[in-house]
Amino acid sequence: MSATAKKTAPLPDDIRARKGGVPLVSLTAYTTPMAELMDPHCDFVLVGDSVGMVLHGLSSTLGVTMEMMILHGQAVRRGLRRAMMVVDMPFGSYEQSPQQAFANAARLMAETGCAAVKLEGGVAMADTIAFLVARGVPVMAHVGLTPQSIYTLGGYKVQGRGAAADRLLADARAVAEAGAFAVVLEKLPAALADQVTQQVPIPTIGIGASAGCDGQILVVDDMLGLFTAFRPKFVKRYASLGHQAEAAIEEYAAEVRERSFPGPEHVFADTTPAGGAQ
Ligand code: KIV
Repeated sequence: MSATAKKTAPLPDDIRARKGGVPLVSLTAYTTPMAELMDPHCDFVLVGDSVGMVLHGLSSTLGVTMEMMILHGQAVRRGLRRAMMVVDMPFGSYEQSPQQAFANAARLMAETGCAAVKLEGGVAMADTIAFLVARGVPVMAHVGLTPQSIYTLGGYKVQGRGAAADRLLADARAVAEAGAFAVVLEKLPAALADQVTQQVPIPTIGIGASAGCDGQILVVDDMLGLFTAFRPKFVKRYASLGHQAEAAIEEYAAEVRERSFPGPEHVFADTTPAGGAQ
């Protein structure tokens, strides 16, 4: 059965079983209406901590809180019927200890209804991933460019070039061995992403990685042209909704100023119309 013909949301094990098959489709979502639009087309939807930059105007993901992830997770949950929902663990909510990670992951699952959490880090997070998985929390890992570590990575650079490739491979293997059901590969050379995909037994989800990954993810506002503060090379814009929205707002402002909006069709008469419609 194709992913789009499925009537119930896949579980993390169904996603894991898609290794090497038809590529997994995913996008980020932060609101109910956007989740509704993507639900028929995506295998899973990520409530990414990119919400801080995309919707809240933060300059990085570091200021994102558990409360923000819960609020947006609940909104997205209400828009999904068929796609699985994953929620990002925000910076500072899981790094201190496996126990801290479990307490916050359990809260995300209980309060948002997500099927899994995503956290950033490879070898350094392997024990935490194993701890969570052993206690009923499915984990999607995220290696390569991990935006919560931009200050130790030195910015939003391509990761795993040259000698760093071995470390990246070790990170991907470590999260798979720890029990992650999938791993996001962000911003690494395409040949390395292919090598990781061949070497790890779980699906790789690429963003700025390679078409050879087991699936792809993009930030929805990037691919729709709604977030325009900057545009990474790996983003393909499938629409320019930001320009359309700006033109619509400009037209509205002009019409209000010249009193051509509201028109007669947008205002109410002092009589009840035939049929009682208002
Ligand atoms: O927060 C995010 O948007 C992500 C990406 C992998 C899309 O983590």
